Amino acid sequence: MSTTAPGHIIVGAGQAGAKAAQALRREGYLGPITVIGAEADAPYSRPVLSKEYLHGTSARSSINILSDLWYEGHDVDLRLGTHVSDLDPEHHRVTLSTGEQLGYQKLLLATGSRVRRLRVPGANLDGVLYLRTVGDSDRIRQILSTASRVAIIGGGWIGLEIAAAARMHDVDVTVLEASRLPLLGVLGPEVAQHFAALHVSRGVTLRTGVEVTGLTGMDGRVTGVDLADGSHINADAVVVGIGVTPRTELAERAGLAVDNGVLVDASLRSSDPDVFAAGDIASAWHPLLGRRVRVEHWTNASWQPRVAARAMLGLQASYDKLPHFFSEQYDLSMEYTGHVGAEGYDEVVFRGDPESEAYIAFWLKDNRLLAGMNVNVPGVVRKITALVASGQHFSATQSLGALLDP
Ligand SMILES: Cc1cc2nc3c(=O)[nH]c(=O)nc-3n(C[C@H](O)[C@H](O)[C@H](O)COP(=O)(O)OP(=O)(O)OC[C@H]3O[C@@H](n4cnc5c(N)ncnc54)[C@H](O)[C@@H]3O)c2cc1C
Ligand SMILES: NC(=O)c1ccc[n+]([C@@H]2O[C@H](COP(=O)([O-])OP(=O)(O)OC[C@H]3O[C@@H](n4cnc5c(N)ncnc54)[C@H](O)[C@@H]3O)[C@@H](O)[C@H]2O)c1
Repeated sequence: MSTTAPGHIIVGAGQAGAKAAQALRREGYLGPITVIGAEADAPYSRPVLSKEYLHGTSARSSINILSDLWYEGHDVDLRLGTHVSDLDPEHHRVTLSTGEQLGYQKLLLATGSRVRRLRVPGANLDGVLYLRTVGDSDRIRQILSTASRVAIIGGGWIGLEIAAAARMHDVDVTVLEASRLPLLGVLGPEVAQHFAALHVSRGVTLRTGVEVTGLTGMDGRVTGVDLADGSHINADAVVVGIGVTPRTELAERAGLAVDNGVLVDASLRSSDPDVFAAGDIASAWHPLLGRRVRVEHWTNASWQPRVAARAMLGLQASYDKLPHFFSEQYDLSMEYTGHVGAEGYDEVVFRGDPESEAYIAFWLKDNRLLAGMNVNVPGVVRKITALVASGQHFSATQSLGALLDP
């Protein structure tokens, strides 16, 4: 056990972990901070991995969240390539993969997500790829520069952004999605159909409602995908993007309350008063939405740490930022703000023509605005955020359009 006075420990050196270390220093905390990350790389931004970095227009040196000098300059002990194997809240200590034990005053869990693995025969063949880390992005970029046909399993954000990158490399792309439309779960059919049309118009072969039964191979390398309807898709490589699961195992073993994420209050404090959680793993009480939400997006992992840091320092803190995310596919750029819960929505109202690929979509329930998404319409996110946050009712949905007139 280390003999230095225990300070604050951050488990996970990703988006939330790096921003939490920065926020603790910005709040004036002068004591020891240790950030422990399983990856060998200093914290880097993931959104570029399926966009600019994958396209080859963003250099490796530009994707780090904080400069390498920042950690040393701010006296933050960044331990990379180190896994936290055990958390003991009762004794305020963690055990590292090195066997070392460290004590803490307060601890932040920022362990993020891991990819869901495809479980069919052939899933372990060479040429079957996933995208979560910078190394994954390097491998996919290399494949895109040599492959002529790629199959993508999963038509979610990862699948569609990689499809766009692959088409930009002039690679033949088949997207295989289990639902009847890509992005159906998050956008609903009214908007999801326009994303389907976008990709088809850029030359993607889109197969929806499919069941992948196996991957075929030759000499240990993938050659294609078998579907339950008997069809076969030839491919030089297969990229799988079928979702992620929160990495809650440490919290579970430590006896913290976990239910699809680490349960935290609005100040991001877990069921143990000295353990906090932020980013993809936090299932946080949202005071504005009046419910618990777990968000797997960059804005959440960037902003929650500021609140967690304040709460760790005993300062007043509450996270009430509306869920927000962005995507870029081909020349389409979008941002989504708000939250449609499990109860769903009644209607989607468009401002602008979705077929023109420049529009705003609003999701409403009981005449109340739940979420808004601007596609190729810049400069309106603040207005959309204010409208959603206002919680007001719209008796005539058309008035939404007027509210957003420049
Ligand atoms: C390719 C890609 C593109 C994306 N694009 C967008 C986008 O355009 N817009 C958007 O809003 N969101 C996007 N996201 C999602 C966004 O990047 C994530 O929501 C965000 O990275 C979550 O941050 P996090 O810190 O919670 O987790 P992570 O970034 O996953 O970091 C967690 C870190 O903790 C480490 N770790 C886990 N367990 C342990 C342990 N026991 N000990 C030590 N270390 C551990 C992991 O190795 C990892 O490095 C994208 C994600 C990916 C993968
Ligand atoms: N722009 C963004 O915000 C962005 C971009 C990339 C990644 N991410 C994040 O990265 C994570 C992973 O993204 P993702 O796209 O893998 O997850 P996702 O949950 O967004 O999409 C997964 C898709 O795979 C489909 N699917 C599931 N099992 C399948 C199967 N066996 N066969 C075919 N289709 C199947 C689902 O129906 C769904 O459409 C998420 O947290 C996501 O939010 C976000």
